Amino acid sequence: MRVLGIMGSPRIRGNTDLLLDEALKGAQSQSAEVEKIVVDRLKIAPCKEYYGCLKDGNCVIRDDMDDIYPRLLGADAIIVASPIFFYTVSAQLMLLISRCQALWARKYILKNVDIPLKKGAFIAVGATKGEKLFDGPKLTIRYFFKAINADYTDELLIRGVDKKGEIKQHPTALADAYELGKRLAAG
Ligand SMILES: Cc1cc2nc3c(=O)[nH]c(=O)nc-3n(C[C@H](O)[C@H](O)[C@H](O)COP(=O)(O)O)c2cc1C
Repeated sequence: MRVLGIMGSPRIRGNTDLLLDEALKGAQSQSAEVEKIVVDRLKIAPCKEYYGCLKDGNCVIRDDMDDIYPRLLGADAIIVASPIFFYTVSAQLMLLISRCQALWARKYILKNVDIPLKKGAFIAVGATKGEKLFDGPKLTIRYFFKAINADYTDELLIRGVDKKGEIKQHPTALADAYELGKRLAAG
């Protein structure tokens, strides 16, 4: 079982990063092979609507996404982790997501049935306690998962955590992230 973690925060060792690491440790406890991508370290252009992907399912832009597509396709499970920025996922993560229009084209336009089905989990952390805090990002991630042929099987959504590393003071979040990773790799 290969589990791919996508870390959407620019803050290394921040709340998202710590949560994702715990989730990946949980997956490792089930003998999963884990890999982590830090999107902020990558050079990814946004989708430019060239629509080359409508021909063969491949994006015509050449950048660090070249290495990401095979990882997305090859994983058995994907954990997307992001801080909430302006009621959605980070801009860095959104760049990667927008470029998955190529995989959407493979699935829905070219009807490529070879895209392997995988499991998907979403981890998000935001500072405020608003009831609707995760409504927007959850829709985005659901749709992203559909495009890459992942089932939205699990989530961990944490409110009220702001400062770098403050997640360590949360009573359950890190343990919950570990359990999420364990469940994802076990089932
Ligand atoms: C640009 C920016 C926008 C933010 N927007 C929101 C927001 O809309 N709602 C919220 O609850 N927190 C918001 N926050 C706070 C972060 O979600 C919070 O600090 C989070 O813990 C950061 O996680 P990280 O350490 O993984 O980067 C914002 C922070 C930044 C820097």
